[in-house]
Amino acid sequence: MMEDSLSPASITNNLDTRFIGQRVIYYPRLTSTMDVAKREAKQGAAEGTIVVADEQTAGKGRLKHGWLSPEGNIALSIILYPSLTYLPFLIMLASLSVVHSIEAVTGLKSQVKWPNDILINGRKVCGILIESDVRGDTVGYTIVGIGVNVNLRLSAFPEILSTATSLYDELGREVSRLSLIQRILVEIEKLYLSLPAGGSVYQEWRDRLVTLGKRVQVKTGKTVYKGIAESVASDGSLLLRQSDGSLTRIVAGDATLVVK
Ligand code: BTN
Repeated sequence: MMEDSLSPASITNNLDTRFIGQRVIYYPRLTSTMDVAKREAKQGAAEGTIVVADEQTAGKGRLKHGWLSPEGNIALSIILYPSLTYLPFLIMLASLSVVHSIEAVTGLKSQVKWPNDILINGRKVCGILIESDVRGDTVGYTIVGIGVNVNLRLSAFPEILSTATSLYDELGREVSRLSLIQRILVEIEKLYLSLPAGGSVYQEWRDRLVTLGKRVQVKTGKTVYKGIAESVASDGSLLLRQSDGSLTRIVAGDATLVVK
């Protein structure tokens, strides 16, 4: 596999950002970059500090799922201290940054499945997990966790073969994790800094959702909703039209496109 070091020096070298990624905590192997990032944030790490790892042994997915994170992929967590107003936009800007970066580095087009799965040809290439410490209307910290299947050979992981893909599998060649990480950091910072000026991440995120207008099944906890994904609100929630005509607002869930 391609030798692209994710050492702090290689990531910060020529990194064109003001603060995101300017401090790097790197581990060859750890449980989850989320755990380390949370610990650092609680100790007041500088905003934009990132935690990266070559391999995670207990990667975390959304809704308490696990996340397969072997060598060759990107496992990245970014520490931010946004105000509460911007919190819903982080899901959107993280997804858009990955879509833009994958296209810039590989030429591949990807789509967003609500709320923040990145798909190529209908298969998941990236998952995003956002964890925040919110008390009242104060955000203690937010960790944006991004996992990208970069040089993973799906044939070695039959359990996810039908639902996942990797940049390697799509292109038939390896991709530099370093170039992709640097690009993601630049894109995230650009969009994050645009928020106070009214940056329009909501519109672009909505326009890129493959989910809208489709028949979906959404699992939230033990409840499963079925209907047409009609729209998304500016706080990121999904508006689902059910067969009885009612419109249900879903804040968080796992959406599956129903093929008919
Ligand atoms: C999902 O789609 O369920 C979200 C997956 C998020 C995975 C990333 S990899 C980097 C960070 N560390 C983790 O343990 N999880 C996130």
